[in-house]
Amino acid sequence: MPTGERIADIDAVPDDSSLLITVADRDNGEEREVVLVRAGDGVTAWFNYCQHWRDVNLDTGDGAVVRDGELVCKRHGATFERDSGECTFGPCEGAVLDELPVETADGGVFLDADGYEFVRLGASESDDDADIARSIESRIGF
Ligand code: FES
Repeated sequence: MPTGERIADIDAVPDDSSLLITVADRDNGEEREVVLVRAGDGVTAWFNYCQHWRDVNLDTGDGAVVRDGELVCKRHGATFERDSGECTFGPCEGAVLDELPVETADGGVFLDADGYEFVRLGASESDDDADIARSIESRIGF
């Protein structure tokens, strides 16, 4: 049985989109948005920004695009494997989404990261997430 906090039901994670949640960094309280996506029988969790332009969210509040089994960035069409987070096509090909470790058991998705706590289902209500994304400032060309 996982020891981490239960953050969602597996059934709440759609197969053709994503479930947006917000977690907080236990060190500084900063909120971070995370997209949960189906990957085989399990669920993976990725911080809600593209590896091309990190100020671009994968899920803008209406679910991320999943096409042919891959997560798609709406801005320039980069595609990411749902299980590994690796970009298989697009301007950031070869880059890997930043992961929030989770595990699944008993129909639920549980945090597997001591440094974060669950805040809410849905988008962050603070500006932290956008500020963090902007501060990273690692736009890859294009
Ligand atoms: S911002 Fe995502 S592919 Fe360019």
